[in-house]
Amino acid sequence: MIASAVLSLVIFAAGARAVPLAADTTSSSAVVLAPSSSSSSRSFSATAGLVSSSSSSKATTTSSSSASPSPTVLTPAKFLNLTSWSVQMPVGATANSTTFQQVYQPALDKFTSPYFYVNAAQTAVVFNTPNTGITTGGTTSPRTELRQITPVGTTGWDAYSSTWHNLTISAQIDRYPQGYNTSSLVIFAQILSPTQGAEVIVRARDKKLIEMCTKTLGPCINLDTNYSFGEPFTFAFSASNNMTLVTYRKGTVSALVVVPLRPYPDFVFKTGSYCLMTPTTFPATEYCQVTMTSLKVV
Ligand SMILES: *[C@@H]1O[C@H](CO)[C@@H](O)[C@H](O)[C@H]1NC(C)=O
Ligand SMILES: *[C@@H]1O[C@H](CO)[C@@H](O)[C@H](O)[C@H]1NC(C)=O
Ligand SMILES: *[C@@H]1O[C@H](CO)[C@@H](O)[C@H](O)[C@H]1NC(C)=O
Ligand SMILES: *[C@@H]1O[C@H](CO)[C@@H](O)[C@H](O)[C@H]1NC(C)=O
Ligand SMILES: *[C@@H]1O[C@H](CO)[C@@H](O)[C@H](O)[C@H]1NC(C)=O
Ligand SMILES: *[C@@H]1O[C@H](CO)[C@@H](O)[C@H](O)[C@H]1NC(C)=O
Repeated sequence: MIASAVLSLVIFAAGARAVPLAADTTSSSAVVLAPSSSSSSRSFSATAGLVSSSSSSKATTTSSSSASPSPTVLTPAKFLNLTSWSVQMPVGATANSTTFQQVYQPALDKFTSPYFYVNAAQTAVVFNTPNTGITTGGTTSPRTELRQITPVGTTGWDAYSSTWHNLTISAQIDRYPQGYNTSSLVIFAQILSPTQGAEVIVRARDKKLIEMCTKTLGPCINLDTNYSFGEPFTFAFSASNNMTLVTYRKGTVSALVVVPLRPYPDFVFKTGSYCLMTPTTFPATEYCQVTMTSLKVV
């Protein structure tokens, strides 16, 4: 029996309001590390049934968004509620296009791809991002990533509203390129302002690290320093009143961080696999992959 460490990380940023979720609401910038031993369940990775990826093949430039799959083809929308989402793909919008494909509703409900599909065990959706993928504008890295669609007439949600804007996912990181240098990583969740850039990004990096980088808190913050590929976790943003709670749980490991948000009115959530590699310098066989078992946005 292997004892696993319990990490209880509670950080209160100066200026963030106190919330009733944490044990220690009195200290500012307090980091509480409370190791203890207990067994943790790691059954998920065995049941996730990851199918082998098609990483070594070139990103196909065939657009399949308009093709109606046969009734037997399971699409990601059968597993994840994609009502409020579009997906940005690491392939071209049309044959030989250098513009990336983005699929919106209602087409998204019927969409599946070699890079965005239901796993063989039919338990989850795989976000696979080949190094050879086409990139979105303004970046040199490909992504297979959901982007929140906000109601018509709005540009996003406002940080200062007292209404909650929550994103909760259950997922696992299957792969990102390791062993090259620290600049290879996968971003699996973001709060993005189209006008101000990424406000909060959450990423897996180096050999074992899951960390969060923010516009308001200075250096990136560790959420998990012992993450291995395939370990299931739950991650959430809960935003309102100029801040977001960030919660991360993996078995008995958990972290809670309060992050101030700048008061912009156009935030959207993103989640999936945004694969930070340099396609021109990393091997063509490299890829990132995230598998998601649940997705909820309010
Ligand atoms: C790190 O995680 C592994 C399981 O992936 C576990 O066996 C090991 O005990 C953990 N190490 C620490 C220091 O928590
Ligand atoms: C799907 O998500 C939307 C919001 O994104 C929500 O309004 C709707 O109730 C959800 N549907 C189900 C079946 O949960
Ligand atoms: C795409 O490029 C290939 C290789 O250059 C070419 O054979 C094919 O005709 C092109 N397809 C379109 C639709 O332009
Ligand atoms: C959003 O998250 C907060 C904090 O966890 C919770 O109190 C609130 O009920 C959630 N709101 C919704 C609509 O789920
Ligand atoms: C959020 O920020 C705005 C702009 O700075 C400010 O007017 C408002 O009072 C803030 N709301 C809270 C709850 O702090
Ligand atoms: C990491 O490796 C990539 C690919 O070789 C290279 O482009 C990048 O400059 C390297 N970054 C660092 C910090 O060494």
